[in-house]
Amino acid sequence: MERDPIKATIPLTFFEPREIPTYATDEPARDSFGRRIDYLRVSLTDRCNMRCVYCMPAVGMQFAPRPELLTNDELLLVIQAAAAAGFRKLRLTGGEPTLRQDIVELIAAMKAVPGIEHVAMTTNALRLRRLAGPLKEAGLDRVNVSIDSLDPVKFRQMTRGGNLDEVWAGIQAADEAGLHPIKLNAVIVRGMNDDEVVQLAALTTRHPWEFRFIEVMPLTGVAGLAEEGVISTAELIARIEAHFGALTPYGQDPADPARRYRIPGAPGKLGFISAVTDPFCATCNRMRLTADGRLHLCLLRDDEVDLRSAIRNGATVTEIEQIVRHAVQIKPWGHGLPEGVLPTVRGMSQLGG
Ligand code: 5AD
Ligand code: SF4
Repeated sequence: MERDPIKATIPLTFFEPREIPTYATDEPARDSFGRRIDYLRVSLTDRCNMRCVYCMPAVGMQFAPRPELLTNDELLLVIQAAAAAGFRKLRLTGGEPTLRQDIVELIAAMKAVPGIEHVAMTTNALRLRRLAGPLKEAGLDRVNVSIDSLDPVKFRQMTRGGNLDEVWAGIQAADEAGLHPIKLNAVIVRGMNDDEVVQLAALTTRHPWEFRFIEVMPLTGVAGLAEEGVISTAELIARIEAHFGALTPYGQDPADPARRYRIPGAPGKLGFISAVTDPFCATCNRMRLTADGRLHLCLLRDDEVDLRSAIRNGATVTEIEQIVRHAVQIKPWGHGLPEGVLPTVRGMSQLGG
């Protein structure tokens, strides 16, 4: 096979394959807007043991055939290259990352890559009861868990089959294993779980967790849900304040898209992720790796850079580092929702949030 990793890299949304320049390797990668990009969200699989309404369509979902997914060795090559380019934090996502075989060994190997300082995971917690302890031992730092409703029937509807008891057991196991701080995510969908906002927020009065409310994003396959009316952060805060009184702003972290508050006196925190009504693109620090080996440059755009062809053509870590640096260089400024530009290629379950 011809060994030309660079030419194999054709950003899907660029019409002409471009020669990539040679990038200096002595500084961590910055994009063309000066943003330091050091956080890689790694989708380990596009499959899931739930079918959340805001994530996958009810029918017609097609999953990548196995040979298209990066193997563990290929993944580690990418992580080494990303670490060399200055990436420091990883988050494992999916689909559902715990469905990946050898997840415990894979995390141990990723955490051992020089330069990688922090490894987190976003999971639906269905498998955490058994896995939380081993994952912590393997070096996983913390977890975010999706939980959209505290009512078992509604939870089952929103996740199209998820068992709330299992999820609670998983959250408890994560707590006991020390995967702290635990963050819980809810996507609030009008007419489904918006009547539970106050109860969900009230969890932070009993637990030292961060509960994060996420505006539904119009990804492929679920854009209709967003059209029915995104519940904005402003509306959520108004509803919560009507019940608990004024929220107290809590120290912002520029690397965290959530705007953070506390219910006065509560041990936990509230976070609001307003990707639609108040984008945080200016402080974006992240890129995504899809399970089939593409760097996806902005969650809400289609731009991608193919790493898998380069790897399968025998590229070295140093060569892949150059492609990663190039991907950082051509990262778009931000999403195009205000101008009506929607992503069209991948759904959320292929991108991992
Ligand atoms: N809009 C916003 N967030 C979403 N997630 C999944 N689909 C959407 C969507 N359409 C979030 C879930 C999950 C994470 C992987 O992505 O909260 O926790
Ligand atoms: Fe699965 Fe997470 Fe998507 Fe729900 S949001 S279907 S749990 S990947």
